[in-house]
Amino acid sequence: MKILVTGGLGFIGSHTSLLLLEEGYDVVILDNLSNSRISTLEKINSLSANKAAFVQGDILDEKIVDKVFSLGNFHGVVHFAALKSVEESQNNPMKYYLNNVAGTLTILKECQKYGVRNFVFSSSASVYGDAESPVSEDTTSGNRLNPYAESKGMCERILNDIAISDNSMRPTILRYFNVIGAHRSGLLGEESTKEFGNIMPYIVKVASGKMDKILVYGNDYNTPDGTGIRDYIHVMDVAKAHVRALEKQREGCQTYNLGTGQGTSVFELIETFEEVSGLKIPYEVAQRRYGDIEVSYSNPAKAMGELGWKAEFDIRDMVRDTWNYEKVRFKY
Ligand SMILES: NC(=O)c1ccc[n+]([C@@H]2O[C@H](COP(=O)([O-])OP(=O)(O)OC[C@H]3O[C@@H](n4cnc5c(N)ncnc54)[C@H](O)[C@@H]3O)[C@@H](O)[C@H]2O)c1
Repeated sequence: MKILVTGGLGFIGSHTSLLLLEEGYDVVILDNLSNSRISTLEKINSLSANKAAFVQGDILDEKIVDKVFSLGNFHGVVHFAALKSVEESQNNPMKYYLNNVAGTLTILKECQKYGVRNFVFSSSASVYGDAESPVSEDTTSGNRLNPYAESKGMCERILNDIAISDNSMRPTILRYFNVIGAHRSGLLGEESTKEFGNIMPYIVKVASGKMDKILVYGNDYNTPDGTGIRDYIHVMDVAKAHVRALEKQREGCQTYNLGTGQGTSVFELIETFEEVSGLKIPYEVAQRRYGDIEVSYSNPAKAMGELGWKAEFDIRDMVRDTWNYEKVRFKY
C-alpha cells in the first residue's frame, strides 16, 4: 500500500516514513525542504531495505500536488507539512494561515479528486489553549494563544466538516504533545534549519558547548517547583501512532491525544538530562514568556482504547535518545 507523506523529511515525518517503510508500506515523500535537509532522505533509506521516493515541492503548488496524486494511487496521506513556530506565527499570521490551512485544503482537494479516503493529520496540544490539564479529546478548548494554534484548530474544523459531508472520507486527527527523542540509531533526530523556542534543543546546545546556559522562562508558576509542566512524548511513539491510525481508520473524523499522560517540569527535564548525560546544564531564570501556559498534559486513554496505542518510552529514554543523536551527529 502506498502512502503520501507530506513534510516527510521533517523531524516527525522522517521517523514516521522510516517506520512505514519498515512495516511494508511504499512511501512517497513530498517536502519543500523549508525546514529539512535532503540528506535526511539518504538517512531514511540507509536504515530501511524498502526505499522512500521523494518529490521536492510545495503543498501550495497545485500543479505539483496534482501530478503527485495522479501518479500515486495512494491508499492514504499522512499530512505533516506545516510551519510550527509559535513566535513566527504571531509576527506573520498570514504566512501561517496560508501554509498550514490553505496547504491542507490543497491536499484535501486532491484526496477528494483521486478518491484517497484515509488521511492522518498532525495537530497539536496547542488547540486546547489554556484549558485545564489533563485534557481529553472532548475537553472544551480554552483561549488559543497564537495563530499557529488557530491554524491547527481551523484544519481540524475543516476535517470534521468534510467527514460530515462525505462519509467515505476518514480523517484522523492526532494531537501531539511535546515531541522529543530520536531514532535509536542516532541517525535521525530533530534537525531543524530554524530555531523554535522549544527547550530541548537549547539543553542540547548547552550540553554540547554551543551555548553557556539556558533560560528558564518563569519559576513562579503554580506548580511544585514553579516551572512550567509539559507532556513530553518520544518521536518513535508518535511515529507508531501514525501506523496504528492508518491500520484502524474508522468512519467519521476521529481525534486522539498523543502524550504519555505524565507531566514533566522544566527543572525535572534539566535534572533528567544531567543524570542521563553526566553533564552539568547551567541555567538562568528569566521572565515568563507571553503565551506560555502553566501546565499541559494529556489524557491519552482514547488512543489506547481505539488505536491500541500507548507511549512506550519514558522521559529518560527520550533524553537518552536525543543526546545520543547529538553525539552521533557531531561525533562527541
Ligand atoms: N514537533 C512537535 O513537538 C509538534 C507538536 C505538535 C504538532 N506538531 C506538528 O507536526 C508536524 C510535523 O512537525 P515537525 O516537528 O516534524 O516539524 P518539521 O518542521 O521538522 O517538519 C515539517 C516538514 O514540512 C515541510 N514543509 C513545511 N511547509 C511545507 C510546504 N508548504 N510544502 C511542503 N513541505 C513543507 C518542512 O520542510 C519540514 O520538512 C507539523 O504539522 C507540526 O505543526 C509538531
